Amino acid sequence: MRHLLNPLDFSVEEISQLLDLASDIEHHLPKYAHVCDGKKIATLFYEPSTRTRLSFESAMLSLGGSVLGFSSADSSSAAKGESVADTIRMISCYADICAMRHPKEGAPLVAANHSSIPVINAGDGGHQHPTQTLTDLMTIRSLLGRLNGMTVGLCGDLKFGRTVHSLINALVRYPDIRFILISPPELRVPEYIREDVLKAKNIEFKEADNLDEAMPELDILYMTRVQRERFFNEEDYIRLKDCYILDKAKMKLARETMFVLHPLPRVNEISVEVDSDPRAAYFRQVQYGVYVRMALIMTLLEVEKPC
Ligand code: CP
Repeated sequence: MRHLLNPLDFSVEEISQLLDLASDIEHHLPKYAHVCDGKKIATLFYEPSTRTRLSFESAMLSLGGSVLGFSSADSSSAAKGESVADTIRMISCYADICAMRHPKEGAPLVAANHSSIPVINAGDGGHQHPTQTLTDLMTIRSLLGRLNGMTVGLCGDLKFGRTVHSLINALVRYPDIRFILISPPELRVPEYIREDVLKAKNIEFKEADNLDEAMPELDILYMTRVQRERFFNEEDYIRLKDCYILDKAKMKLARETMFVLHPLPRVNEISVEVDSDPRAAYFRQVQYGVYVRMALIMTLLEVEKPC
């Protein structure tokens, strides 16, 4: 039995196979309508979510399976003090696979250690968000036709942004990747990403605070939200929340072949006037998230690809 807790739990070859399956699902959706008949996914969300929870549920329903779960800690027995370890023992009796989001880093790992069903990390605190990363990889591969040889700009909250941490971890395994890390000094990537991932693997990167200067160099711009829920201090949040706003004027500085991704939700960091730009790919990214989660459910449940 396998879990997905970290994007590195799958090898580059396995990710390639998973993205191929997701792409086949995209183009032959009806073929997959019954491959998970009788299977159930439990979505255990201790933190708010729109895309991740609903895309897991949509994915399982599209495969013929069923869904159960909770969408907040308050509506589960966590509110009465039940531990993650005990909860997953129960869920293992009710479902075949589960996706867990939790504000505490490492909670899905604790769940996996006590589970008899596959556990998928659907985001743990400021740590990792591996299924967002698989979505991002599928989006980039579909848009550029490759996952190597590119300059990726990551912009916004690089300190608490789990999508950023997971994406960097995943992309450094491909050749000729260069990063421009654009953030205010207070929201730079954590030390362990800089030292243990980027420097340790000899990856070319620079840290910057000016988005305009970086724009002409980018193949991919990955915008992120400054996350109010991760700040200890409201004053700091208010000071930093609008530090980057991507608008039409900034898009004029970019290549015609650059694409903008965002894990969403957005607040102010991408002006709605950018949505109609053909390079704005963040809503297409949401659709890829369903195909990739369908492929992931099939892979972890060891469901055969239909003919
Ligand atoms: N991208 C993402 O994780 O969105 P949600 O918080 O809505 O799930």
